Formats: sequence, structure tokens, C-alpha cells
Amino acid sequence: MTLQSFNMDHHWLPFTPNRSFKQDPRVFVAADGMHFTTHDGKKVLDGISSLWCVTAGHNRKPINEAIKKQLDTLDYATAFQASNDQAFKAAEMIASMAPGDLNKVLFCSSGSEAADTSLKVALAYHRARGEGHRNVFIGRERGYHGVGFGGMSVGGIPANRKAYGTALLPRVDHMRFIHDPVNHAYIHNQEPVWQEDILLELENRILPLHDASNIAAVIVEPVAGSAGWYLPPQGYLKRLREICDKHGILLIFDEVITGFGRMGVNFGADYYGVVPDMLNFAKGVTNGVIPMGGVVCSDRIYNAMMKANEGAPEHAIEFFHGYTYSGHPVACAAAIATLTLFKEEKLFERAGQMGTVLGDALHSGLKGLPNVIGIRSLGLAGAVEMASIPGSPGKRAYDIFMTCFHNGVLVRPAGENIVLCPPFIVEKEHIDRMVNVVADAIRQHA
Ligand SMILES: Cc1ncc(COP(=O)(O)O)c(C=O)c1O
Repeated sequence: MTLQSFNMDHHWLPFTPNRSFKQDPRVFVAADGMHFTTHDGKKVLDGISSLWCVTAGHNRKPINEAIKKQLDTLDYATAFQASNDQAFKAAEMIASMAPGDLNKVLFCSSGSEAADTSLKVALAYHRARGEGHRNVFIGRERGYHGVGFGGMSVGGIPANRKAYGTALLPRVDHMRFIHDPVNHAYIHNQEPVWQEDILLELENRILPLHDASNIAAVIVEPVAGSAGWYLPPQGYLKRLREICDKHGILLIFDEVITGFGRMGVNFGADYYGVVPDMLNFAKGVTNGVIPMGGVVCSDRIYNAMMKANEGAPEHAIEFFHGYTYSGHPVACAAAIATLTLFKEEKLFERAGQMGTVLGDALHSGLKGLPNVIGIRSLGLAGAVEMASIPGSPGKRAYDIFMTCFHNGVLVRPAGENIVLCPPFIVEKEHIDRMVNVVADAIRQHA
């Protein structure tokens, strides 16, 4: 296939420099296992699970077959005032994997929708309990919760927010970022230990400023993924849970990246031993093959919403929220097949084991190379942080990404970081190849 085979004038690419893309397009036409095929027949190693999605590897037959079968059985059915068998089954499987009393699944189709859904649940829950004044949300600097207005507002990535001014939610604050670039530049499969308590800022500044009684929820990614795999300090999430409990604030974990095995266990919540009130998921739940997202809510939240409607007429809807594609039968069939495959192939355990291999390779292969100022690895993911080029933020990581692509490895530029988060089926030889290609690119752009 040549580039002339398709017209590139009409597809406005997301989160992509469209002008330069046209000069040097990257077009995939097929994928299998760990590799893509490009339009010109080149093989490219998928070093990022296609943006943290394809965790079981590409072109997995059990998932493909389940989708085909579902298409021939029940292609779609309305999600409102009715449902479908696949949605109940998928919800049951997800609830059984989620920790604690996280048992009620609200489906949607993406991580952005999951973020906005969870924020809406928080407001509706507090209102149902007679605390409708709780409408402040707390996110964290450099957090990413998608691109809806809610998720963007609690998100803390400046470039994503800067064009939207007062259209962002008004009552939002952000905790400080969790990275110490001096003491924790190099971290391998351990939790950074801080001398200071960075949650004192939440307790001593943010909560009093808004008055804790007005705060609806705190939302964080257990590990900050999109910003570039930044790890929470030891004890941070446990303490955050305690602070939220003390003040009646809901805790939302955005596990769109950390969920479904990336940390070697079901969820980041399991890894850190902290149960949130809501857990957002997307991406890996269907191996990325069909869009799906969702929020797993605690029984407590669900029960409060039902209780508030106790005296209401039978036809009264308890939560005015949902998407046309909530619990889409084909997406749910894909999720059921994916979650089954994870179990059958023990892929989460494998992610944990290969995570150590990846971390070892990153630290031994890249530390000391020109402009490398940090390497962080945990679970099956790692980031190498590059010194910023003065006046050109992000350029070095972008250049390295492009060079890696031309050398047959897809990596992820995230700010000044190069991130690697391969599918759980990755082999050591793939990891060695990725790290060697990144190392060469780093040297080339020194
Ligand atoms: C933590 C987190 N939340 C939300 C999202 C948004 O997901 P989506 O792009 O499916 O809307 C992402 C995407 O990377 C994410 O990493």
C-alpha cells in the first residue's frame, strides 16, 4: 500500500501535530502479537500496548471470535429501560475483580466518560444524602482524566487546560505533584520515600481554604500515567484515604492505565492496598479492541442513591445519567473474552514478572546516557526522563519518539519522558530491542 492509496485531508488527528504528521505519516494497516505492519510493509514493535490498551497483545483470537459471535447474536440493544445479557455478565466479572465493596458498574465507552461519570456520581451521591453543598473537586497537578470538561477540570496538565478558561468547572483545586526530581530521579520497583509529607498541603491549605465540608471528591491516578509514569510516595494513597474518610470526602481512583494488570495485580488499588469509593477503568478492559469504559462504585454509594428514592414512584429514575452505548453488547462480549483470557494465561502475573525485566533493562541500558535525568519503573511500565531543551519543551522526547519509530519501535513521548509500557505478552528479546533502540535514539539526539 502506498500513501497515495488514501486521502489524508479529512482526518483531524487527535493529540498529534497534524502539520508535521503529513510530512512523515505513521500509518498502521495490520497488527499481530507484539507488532504492527505499516502501510509500506514495515514491522513496528508495539512498546506501549497501543496507548496502554492492547495488554494481551494484538489479534487475539478468543477476543476476535467472541466479538464475531456477539455480532451474529445480538448486535446492539438500547441501554435505557432495558439491558442485555453480556452487560450483566461483564459487570459481574469486573465487580468480582474489583476490591472491597466496589460492586456496582456504570458502563460508558472511554476513560474521559468514566471521569465525568464519576464526578457526577459524587455530586449526585452527596445530594442524595442531603449534602448538596459538597461540590468542590480536588485533582492533582499533572493528573490526566481525559478530555471532557469534568475530567479536564480536575486534570492538571496545563496544555490540555489552557484554551478553556472559565469553561472549566469553577470549584476545583489541585494538590501538588508527587515527584521529587532530585531525590527520586531513579526508582526501580520501589515506592519513593519522602522526608516531607506532601499531603500536609491538602490538610493545611486546600481543605481549610474550601472548607472540607464542601468537598465532594478527590480524584487521582494511583500512578500518574499520562504525565509520564510518576510514582506516589510510600504511604501516600493510604494517607489520602484516611484524610478523605475523616472529612466525608469520596476518593476516586482513575485506573484507566493502572487497572487490569499493569501493576502485576488486578488494580492499582490492590497494589497499594487502598480501596477507593469509585474506580474508573477503560482501555485494557477490552484489550482496546472495542471502546469501553466504566466506573465501579461502592455499594454504599449505590445504596444511598436508591435509598434517596425510597418514597419516589416506581417509574422514578434514581440517577439521570447514561450513554447510548453504556454496556454495548459487543463491547461487553469483548470484555468478557479479554478478562477470561487474562485469567487463563495468567497475564497479570506475567506483567509483574516482565516488569522487573523491563525495569532492569531500562536502568542498566539508559542510565548515564546524554541528557537522561531520571528513570522510573514500576509494574510493566517505565519512563526515562530527558533534560528539556531550553525554549523547546517536549522536543527532545518527540525527536526520540520519531527516531525510534523509524527504527521499528513505537514508544510514547509524554512531556520530557519516553514511556515504555508493552503488552503483557512481551518477551525479554522485545524488551532488549526496545531499550537498545531508545538508547541509540537518545545518543543520536544528544
Ligand atoms: C488515567 C486516565 N484517565 C482517563 C483517560 C482518558 O481516556 P480516553 O482517552 O479513553 O477518554 C486516560 C487516557 O489515557 C487516562 O490515562
